[in-house]
Amino acid sequence: MNRLRTQVGIVGAGPAGLTLGRLLHRAGIEAVVLENRSRDYVEHRIRAGVLEQGTVDLLRELGVSKRMDREGIVHDGIYLQFAGKRHHLPMRELTGRSITIWGQTEIVKDLIVARLADGEPLLFEVDEVAVHDLESERPRITFRHEGEAHELACDVIAGCDGSHGVCRPAIPAGVLSEYSREYPFGWLGILAEAPPSSDELVYTHTPDGFALLSLRSPSLSRSYLQVDHDEDLGAWPDERIWAELQRRTALEGWTLVEGPILEKGVTGMRSHVVEPMRHGNLFLAGDAAHIVPPTGAKGLNLAIHDVRLLGEALVEWYGSGSRALLDAYSETCLRRVWRCEHFSWWMTTMLHRLPGDDPFDLKLQLSQLRHVTTSEAAATMLAENYVGLENV
Ligand code: APR
Ligand code: PHB
Repeated sequence: MNRLRTQVGIVGAGPAGLTLGRLLHRAGIEAVVLENRSRDYVEHRIRAGVLEQGTVDLLRELGVSKRMDREGIVHDGIYLQFAGKRHHLPMRELTGRSITIWGQTEIVKDLIVARLADGEPLLFEVDEVAVHDLESERPRITFRHEGEAHELACDVIAGCDGSHGVCRPAIPAGVLSEYSREYPFGWLGILAEAPPSSDELVYTHTPDGFALLSLRSPSLSRSYLQVDHDEDLGAWPDERIWAELQRRTALEGWTLVEGPILEKGVTGMRSHVVEPMRHGNLFLAGDAAHIVPPTGAKGLNLAIHDVRLLGEALVEWYGSGSRALLDAYSETCLRRVWRCEHFSWWMTTMLHRLPGDDPFDLKLQLSQLRHVTTSEAAATMLAENYVGLENV
């Protein structure tokens, strides 16, 4: 057994783990990042793509925004389409803030390059990761890497290992309260070599179900269709996907541009939160602690918000010896988590075709959609949640 020592052991090299590693390095705090997948795998996973201003600001502060500043696309609004009409929601006009379209995959690539250039430890393809002695002053992570067994002694462990990681399940039974909601549908997502057909994202409510038009760059579009929770991708040849996208986004005088589909996948939708986001010296961040359905584009932004708070709390603790921010971490994070959980649930239930096709539900959805597209107060409520609330 090879014995190692660090200040903060970070499990998971997604946006949460890598951003935390960067934050700590800039403050002179040592960390080791452990990732069970290969570098190639994490750099090619297609994930989220909408950044709140706060997320953009943090990436800038951390000196990893060069490509994002050059290639990211700023959007000042979104469209909501229902009952055959497309309505513009001018988010910047309503809130003073915008969103930036820039892929999570690209953020991860830049953070990896930065960490390796700094010579900071980041190990890919680690196996058998396990966390121990969480309630002690010296929690440990054991793992195997390149055939050797290692033990990493830490002051603190950051569980940034996503929704299927090992950190959350290592917390003893009875400690966590879990809150969840399953939705009886999923999203079929495609990445296509086609210029975006709209200048801003289009969220559509139709009798056939929800669709979303998004993008990754001026030549790559990203689109989604509501499907069953465990839909068989085999039932969706490219022609069927395009036909369904055409049907659900159709508008007179406007055309949806098609192109070769480069990637497709189905994701079931759910909401999930555990409380507290801490046990002893294990701190959970990002998807390890909470999942939102993607309709509000909040998952990535929440993960980044968590690690910003965790980073600040660790900097304070190492700097002044005060554990005040660390002790407040879970409660502070959860305020924003629950705001985003509500917003994501609300957007999801407003826009998707609901099980049973209850006509009462449908009337409520359409009334809500009309309200957010005609009342400035209601539109502002949607917009301020979408661009990211301040002071939550
Ligand atoms: N050991 C080491 N690493 C692990 C383990 C493990 N046992 N289990 C999972 N991981 C890694 C995953 O391979 C992944 O790279 O942890 C990382 C977790 O990253 P993400 O799933 O991207 O989660 P997070 O960093 O919290 O970012 C949340 O990701 O799923 C999207 O919509 C979500 O955009 C949000 C963002
Ligand atoms: C995306 O571009 O992947 C995307 C955009 C908006 C969402 C969800 C996903 O609400």
